[in-house]
Amino acid sequence: MAPTEAGSAPPVSRGPAAGRRGADRGVDVLAVLTLPGVERSVPYARRFLRDTLVPGHVSARDEVLDDMALVVDEFTGNGIKHTASGDGGSITLVLLAGRDMLRAEVTDDGAGGLRPVLRAAPEGENGRGLHIVGALAERWGHRPDGPRTTVWAEFRRRD
Ligand SMILES: Nc1ncnc2c1ncn2[C@@H]1O[C@H](COP(=O)(O)OP(=O)(O)OP(=O)(O)O)[C@@H](O)[C@H]1O
Ligand SMILES: [Mg+2]
Repeated sequence: MAPTEAGSAPPVSRGPAAGRRGADRGVDVLAVLTLPGVERSVPYARRFLRDTLVPGHVSARDEVLDDMALVVDEFTGNGIKHTASGDGGSITLVLLAGRDMLRAEVTDDGAGGLRPVLRAAPEGENGRGLHIVGALAERWGHRPDGPRTTVWAEFRRRD
């Protein structure tokens, strides 16, 4: 699926509201983790995803977990590879849940105004990551956060 344009992700309650039901579309912030922008952070993010969602939100064998893990891998990897996060910065993973969906958001330190772009014809080993995201997520997109970028993906709850 093609990425959704910036700004069209549903709003979410943050700060003091985190963990409570959001006011706008019933989206809860489940957990937030900020990690250093190094490759070693990728498996941490994946474990955090699993530990946050299982067993309260999805069962350990739910395939959505594998799909979300691949997407979180890709988003965190991109943040580290393509943005200032990988140059001594950090990445922040936010996990959210609505009635029918789960959402992962990764905020990086920005790339001088460059944003994620679907490479039309991936060559060799590059340019495939976001195509895989598009195949696994119900919908995904990105939005600017000042110079930073938040990339997000939603998944249908299957329980
Ligand atoms: N968070 C981001 N901020 C800025 N640019 C990004 C970000 N994520 C991806 N991009 C840009 O989008 C392009 C496509 O990303 P994609 O993940 O599909 O490919 P890749 O990371 O280059 O290679 P691969 O994922 O196949 O190893 C990247 O080459 C990069 O230019
Ligand atoms: Mg990539």
